[in-house]
Amino acid sequence: MNLQVTPGAPLLGEVHLPGDKSLSHRAALLAVLAQGESRIANFLVAGVTQAMLSALTSLGVAWELEGNHLTIWSQGASSLKSPEAPIDCGNSATTLRLLTGALAATQVSAVLDGSPGLQQRPMKRIVEPLQQMGVSISSTDGHAPLVLQKSSLPLRPLDYSLPVASAQVKSCLLLAALAAGGQTTLREPGPSRDHTERILRSLGVRVKSERLSLPELDTDQYLTQLFPPRQLLLPALDLELPGDFSAAAFLVVAALITPGSEVSLQQVGLNPTRTGLLDALLEMGADIQVSVTGESSGEPVGSLVVRHSNLRGTQVTGPLVVRMIDEFPAFAIAAAFAEGETRVSQAGELRYKESDRIAALCTELVSLGANVAETADGFIIQGKRLAGGEQVASHGDHRLAMALAVAGLACQQPVTVLGAGIITESFPAFEQTVADLGGQLKPLE
Ligand code: S3P
Repeated sequence: MNLQVTPGAPLLGEVHLPGDKSLSHRAALLAVLAQGESRIANFLVAGVTQAMLSALTSLGVAWELEGNHLTIWSQGASSLKSPEAPIDCGNSATTLRLLTGALAATQVSAVLDGSPGLQQRPMKRIVEPLQQMGVSISSTDGHAPLVLQKSSLPLRPLDYSLPVASAQVKSCLLLAALAAGGQTTLREPGPSRDHTERILRSLGVRVKSERLSLPELDTDQYLTQLFPPRQLLLPALDLELPGDFSAAAFLVVAALITPGSEVSLQQVGLNPTRTGLLDALLEMGADIQVSVTGESSGEPVGSLVVRHSNLRGTQVTGPLVVRMIDEFPAFAIAAAFAEGETRVSQAGELRYKESDRIAALCTELVSLGANVAETADGFIIQGKRLAGGEQVASHGDHRLAMALAVAGLACQQPVTVLGAGIITESFPAFEQTVADLGGQLKPLE
């Protein structure tokens, strides 16, 4: 499906967001390790979570989805069956990496595989530390398919420094560490999202998080320690998931760059390890009112009111990169419409996402008339109002497709996003949500 976006109309109104993707994955997986009936409200119903639910079916887990209410019945880790066929994780690296960690804590043997795109994502980063824990796992040249054989439990406790900050790697290892014979210590160079830690704590598992300053290296280190329970018997979950900040990001940027817009977003997850984009945009002069109104599932939630703003360029580097790791497609569009220069550095991880987001963003922004230079670990944009009037490509990346559609709302000429069907991987209601606010989008078959 291609999406034609016509600029001009302001975006006005209130938005209902889908449930948080990261939390949906974690809640479903932990419900499987728990005993009894778990209820998860505002679960994200999208391509990536469908991959997780199908995987659960192949492990013999019973679940039911009514609208966006997910119920999972499990008798805990020991009740899982080894699937006969490879588990297909689709396009979802979160499914593959977190499921591998959770299964390492059980007596399941499985092959974990996915789409050709997923088979290109790096997996050595989970395989090596899992092997250090005594998990019998091998990869195909550092990639999926991964072959996991049931290991003898308990696993060896791990003391490990992650070379790059990654919540997927950290969460994979924390889930495996639930079945280790002692405390696991993980160190990260940046503040990756801490959803797994929060949800585990809410289930009674002892997890400690600490930021250590290393003055001799002029940097901070982020330490996570997990003390495994004597038996892996978690209580059933009863959660209402907050709206996905990473979905909100596209609507925030759309409202900021489209003249006359005012958009309000309610029940948004505002975990500080996720909201780096707000810090970057506020620094650029964005008019965003942020109110934290309460907590949901151990996560801060609140509202955002966003008005069209004249943005100026900024710099993004260091820990801020980690706190907005999924938001660079949306952010790059804001930067492309801002006055002056924006520089992003120390963001090499963007090359290992659903697409090489540095290369793909730079290519497509140039097609829209932007002045962009690609660097090894980021990009430099000289902002102005983009011309548009071109066809741009999603590169099979849901976030790139949404970012380019958002750009189309404020360009001088219409924009056609090719391969926009991929948006259903994380935000199936994106097109309808933007249309309800007044945006002019037309699917072209
Ligand atoms: C995620 C972590 C991030 C993020 C991804 C979801 C998670 O990946 O990009 O969309 O749910 O833990 P990395 O851990 O590879 O940075």
